Amino acid sequence: MTVLASSEGTGGTLGATAELRSAQFRDIAAIMQREARIHLVEAKTTLVHSRLSRRLREHGLTSFVDYVALVERDAEERHAMVVALTTNHTHFFRENHHFDHLRREVLPKLQDRARRGEKVRIWSAGCSSGEEVYSIAMCLAGDGPTSAAWLQQGDVRLLATDISPPVVQAVRDARYSAATVEPIPESYRRRWMRAEANGDHVVADPLRELVAARVLNLFDTWPMRRKYDVIFCRNVMIYFDDTAKAELEARFVEMLAPGGTLYIGHSERLIGPAARLMKPVGQTIYARNDGGPA
Ligand SMILES: C[S@@+](CC[C@H](N)C(=O)[O-])C[C@H]1O[C@@H](n2cnc3c(N)ncnc32)[C@H](O)[C@@H]1O
Repeated sequence: MTVLASSEGTGGTLGATAELRSAQFRDIAAIMQREARIHLVEAKTTLVHSRLSRRLREHGLTSFVDYVALVERDAEERHAMVVALTTNHTHFFRENHHFDHLRREVLPKLQDRARRGEKVRIWSAGCSSGEEVYSIAMCLAGDGPTSAAWLQQGDVRLLATDISPPVVQAVRDARYSAATVEPIPESYRRRWMRAEANGDHVVADPLRELVAARVLNLFDTWPMRRKYDVIFCRNVMIYFDDTAKAELEARFVEMLAPGGTLYIGHSERLIGPAARLMKPVGQTIYARNDGGPA
């Protein structure tokens, strides 16, 4: 498959048309597989073309042959290409049944643990721009006058990680447009979002302080030393092939505390060793078989 489209440069060579032929698509797909285990099928040629056209323009290149050569020799551009080809679609309270389950089944156990002086750790893996981790934080904090006290009194931390530096920065900024905050239930929005004069909404400090946002490729070594009570990895594994999924899911199981809970995306499923070690406790919700407090 060859995709031909005119780039938006301002005349001269930058305005030339770059073709993405099968050979270069395959090179790009191989690099994505190697760098991020993202599995690109040829049906994505148009998408890859449109997302990378800007990278070509930034380097003043008019051919994907030259761009692939650049990416092969330049680690920084390789990373920029991976970032350009990630899909960061997300929204607050996406797949809301997960948050109902978290509040109803998991939160009371987490509160008990925190009150006993134990650490509580939650990980949003492949967090995109933070809507997921702040939805979790709002569920933990509740909307009552004292419902967040346990968070301040206990040792509760949320980790949000993504391969893409710009989205990790967005988690740190915690700033969202009026349209983006619409799915947040009104009582949470009133309590935990601060509206600014320009119409943006910023997450309140007590929630932001719970969250550490870090750049992390899920297929690299994980620097975290302690186990997690809850892991959300939703709508991330759809981009990986089965071998990568099975490997990653097995690592999540290992990273979960006994009885810990794993939430995955609506079109995802557990395969490989994870499928044996986890039991389903809800729609795309799994708990470690070995019981335990969370
Ligand atoms: C579609 S978003 C999902 C966001 C959120 N979890 C949700 O369900 O709304 C997928 C995220 O996974 C990240 N991602 C893809 N491959 C990754 C990898 N190898 N390591 C870490 N993050 C990755 C992307 O950068 C993107 O932000």
